[in-house]
Amino acid sequence: MHVLVTGGCGYIGSHTVLELLLAGHDVTVVDDLSNSSPESLRRVGELAGRAPVFHELDVADRRGLGAVFAAAPVDAVVHFAGLKAVGESVTDPERYWRVNVGSTLSLVAAMAAAGTTQLVFSSSATVYGDPDVVPITEAAPVRPVNPYGRTKAAIEWLLADLAGSGAGWQVTLLRYFNPIGAHPSGRIGEDPTGVPNNLVPFIAQVAVGRRPELLVFGDDYPTADGTGVRDYIHVVDLARGHLAALASPPGPDEVRTVNLGTGRGSSVFEVVAAFEDATGSPLPRRVVPRRPGDVAACYADPGLAADVLGWRAELGLGEACADTWRWQSANPTGYR
Ligand code: UFG
Repeated sequence: MHVLVTGGCGYIGSHTVLELLLAGHDVTVVDDLSNSSPESLRRVGELAGRAPVFHELDVADRRGLGAVFAAAPVDAVVHFAGLKAVGESVTDPERYWRVNVGSTLSLVAAMAAAGTTQLVFSSSATVYGDPDVVPITEAAPVRPVNPYGRTKAAIEWLLADLAGSGAGWQVTLLRYFNPIGAHPSGRIGEDPTGVPNNLVPFIAQVAVGRRPELLVFGDDYPTADGTGVRDYIHVVDLARGHLAALASPPGPDEVRTVNLGTGRGSSVFEVVAAFEDATGSPLPRRVVPRRPGDVAACYADPGLAADVLGWRAELGLGEACADTWRWQSANPTGYR
């Protein structure tokens, strides 16, 4: 297949581009580099033995996108490009709605004009908000609790409406749980700008000496050890989930919603312990009050992905921490 990947220079995007190339697909990447480095793609090309085609372009640039689709017929699109910082979305919601929803509108218009109808969308378990029950199935109510999550939910509705329009759209909505880890080569990985919002990149920067200590946000949750529980999925497993989604699309005029998670919840203390095992050194940490908006426990029921995509996560927390450490220690300042 010829797959167009938006946001292909980013963390999940770059790992997915690599898996696509290794599986023999042709890949075109569109990325405006607003929160990513072209160095990731250069390294992907090295690892795969061939490079994807790259266009430095904002997905909201409808004309530019038209030219990309005109250059070579595209069989399917994987849409990662978007803003993803929860806190920033609270202080600047207009930007989140404009960028995330606006760029998706531009993308689907370009796809429609080019006659490309197969789309895989990068959604998030954040659309479930604070779940009533765990593990979470796809039937759980969608009620996001912040603007970022609401843009993801809005895009899901938009794409479902397209699938209902009779124009032949085949849409897969992938709801990711917590992606962590890096390619086992240590050549590509997560490279957040500024202070990392997420647990594992923060831990990695503490381990490499860029930050003094991990702040553990609360140890008074109703969980086994009192810290928050999440479903940490290795980014290579997650990337392969996209290949499975491309290989088993829904029928024309259908939308399919699938969780991508491991089905296993791990606490903050368990992640710290796994990381200490990977590095062989104690990780400085201090418990502080809860972070507003955090939920106690969130993990997937991954059964549907196994049933309809034939996909399941194969890598564990230990492998993810070892791979994160390989990447972070070899690239202490990321791609810079
Ligand atoms: N945590 C810490 N210290 C940190 C960072 C995180 O203790 O410095 C804890 C959090 O309290 C939580 C766990 O580690 O219990 C995981 O936190 P992350 O920020 O890594 O992940 P979240 O589950 O909060 O966030 C993820 C995605 C978001 C998404 C959100 C809501 O990264 O994009 O899920 O589903 F919006």
